[in-house]
Amino acid sequence: MVIPRSRSVSERSVLPVVSPTVNFPVMKSVFFSRFFILLPWVLIVIIMIDVDTKRTSRTPAVARAGRTQHQRTARPGAPAGVNRSFIYAITPTYTRPVQKAELTRLTNAFRQVPSFHWIVVEDSTTRTEMVARFLARSGVPYTHLNVFTPRRFKRTGMPRATEQRNAALAWLRQHRTRRDAGVVFFADDDNTYSLELFEEMRGTKAVSVWPVGFVGGRAYERPIVTGGKVVGWYTGWRPDRPFATDMAGFAVNLQVILGNPRAQFKRRGSQPGMQESDFLKQITNVSDLEPKASNCTRVLVWHTRTEKPHMGNEPKFRKDTVVIEV
Ligand SMILES: *[C@@H]1O[C@H](CO)[C@@H](O)[C@H](O)[C@H]1NC(C)=O
Ligand SMILES: *[C@@H]1O[C@H](CO)[C@@H](O)[C@H](O)[C@H]1NC(C)=O
Ligand SMILES: *[C@@H]1O[C@H](CO)[C@@H](O)[C@H](O)[C@H]1NC(C)=O
Repeated sequence: MVIPRSRSVSERSVLPVVSPTVNFPVMKSVFFSRFFILLPWVLIVIIMIDVDTKRTSRTPAVARAGRTQHQRTARPGAPAGVNRSFIYAITPTYTRPVQKAELTRLTNAFRQVPSFHWIVVEDSTTRTEMVARFLARSGVPYTHLNVFTPRRFKRTGMPRATEQRNAALAWLRQHRTRRDAGVVFFADDDNTYSLELFEEMRGTKAVSVWPVGFVGGRAYERPIVTGGKVVGWYTGWRPDRPFATDMAGFAVNLQVILGNPRAQFKRRGSQPGMQESDFLKQITNVSDLEPKASNCTRVLVWHTRTEKPHMGNEPKFRKDTVVIEV
């Protein structure tokens, strides 16, 4: 049915060329028929362009986040048109008195990092109201996930946040492709981050490393670099670890994560403090590591850990007259 109709339309459209004695009303009808033929195509092109720009700006699921990302491209120091790779920061978190304060400190840094996407994974059976509200108002593009750690794994001496980090890796493998330029970083919520760290890690080709303050039983732990290559580790704790680094001491190119679909954090057979080594062993070699932060001579991240607040005077019964989120 469509074919004969379109043929008749094209016949009509050649009419003015065939007949030199065209009068004005005919021209007009030709103009309108062309106009209505072209109109749907123009609309399709407009829609395609719109979809394409949305895809290249990589709008996260949350509309609010998409808007902040948009504003960020206009920041001074981030000239429009620069296609920098994204930083995907993975933050496992769990409910505790200092949680909101910790997340606030992170947000104050992350909000200022261009092309940034925050993957927050709660150790919880649901995404909590508090964290959902916090993220929605954070001004940081984000994805909010949750996975509950089974009770039997919640003992001292057991590696922590394994399930949460793996959930974030699974999300990346599902929602990002070979065409996405990015760097993946494990940003625990008890650290303090310098903004410089993010520009250091952004150029990571495979796996990059740098020093971390207040870990390994020393003021800092760092990769030892000779001739631009990592040759060992300066640490005060278990120097026999193949990668004697902290979770906050390395970043991985997104394509390495996608290209090693089975690489993940292990619970089985993993000793505490060996999570980083067990993970990095699956994707790289010490000699291939890319030293950042001036050949690993600058500390740009610190394991500050907020002190557990003293709350011995919290009233048991006569509580405050209003309910306040802390
Ligand atoms: C920007 O895009 C161009 C063309 O796709 C690519 O060659 C270049 O490496 C990209 N730059 C960065 C920093 O990703
Ligand atoms: C790191 O060390 C290498 C080899 O000594 C040198 O070529 C390079 O410039 C250094 N990089 C920085 C950022 O200092
Ligand atoms: C590590 O190095 C060994 C020997 O040089 C090589 O066979 C292996 O492929 C490397 N592994 C990775 C993940 O680069």
